[in-house]
Amino acid sequence: MSKIIIAIDGYSSCGKSTTAKNVASKLGYAYIDTGAMYRAVTLFFIQNHVSVTNPKEVHTALGQLSIEFRKSEEGRNETFLNGLCVEDEIRKLYVADRVSEVSAIAEVRHAMVDQQRKMGKKRGLVMDGRDIGTVVFPDAELKVFMTAEPLIRAQRRQIELMEKGDMMDIEDILLNIQKRDHIDTTRAESPLRRAQDAILIDTSYMTLDEQVDQLCLLADVAISSKAR
Ligand code: DC
Repeated sequence: MSKIIIAIDGYSSCGKSTTAKNVASKLGYAYIDTGAMYRAVTLFFIQNHVSVTNPKEVHTALGQLSIEFRKSEEGRNETFLNGLCVEDEIRKLYVADRVSEVSAIAEVRHAMVDQQRKMGKKRGLVMDGRDIGTVVFPDAELKVFMTAEPLIRAQRRQIELMEKGDMMDIEDILLNIQKRDHIDTTRAESPLRRAQDAILIDTSYMTLDEQVDQLCLLADVAISSKAR
């Protein structure tokens, strides 16, 4: 069967990652969470006191870090930074607070995009992020742009954090989301925007199952039209 690339872009906490993960497992495709890559770079920068305004420091740091994904025994996708599992650490708010400024750096983006393109060489991939349909894979057979109301996104994020034992005020989460939306959509280097040929999905009032079903349906259409 023909293998395609499914590019899922959109705002944070719209359900992109969970939907993408489920769709990938239904199709038997690989799943790449590109947000996790930018979060891992941010964690490295924080831990090593890399100044984001110093291009030399940024360049050196990028040469010192390696990011990979591994599957845990329970089948969980885990992000590894220089051989260490950082999956839980990169989801914390102190990393989320700095990730937009790090991901706005051109050299950081170029390094991540190179790695992402290599991962998609054989197709058969679901990738989620902010610039997948516009920059990383403009030739993806299926592009989806996900959105949801900010307060609903903040509530979802709060539940996710609570499940990990992190109690956060909804106002603080909402502020973080709004700040990230602003930086992500206004940065000079590949800002978050909907590709012209991306299908818009508003997940505000959709369940996860509905999101997955809708995407699988779209994927079926894209796969069969590629085979034709
Ligand atoms: O999907 P996420 O919330 O985990 O992403 C974390 C941050 O990384 C987000 O604020 C924007 C950035 N990002 C990006 O700039 N480009 C991507 N392809 C993915 C994420």
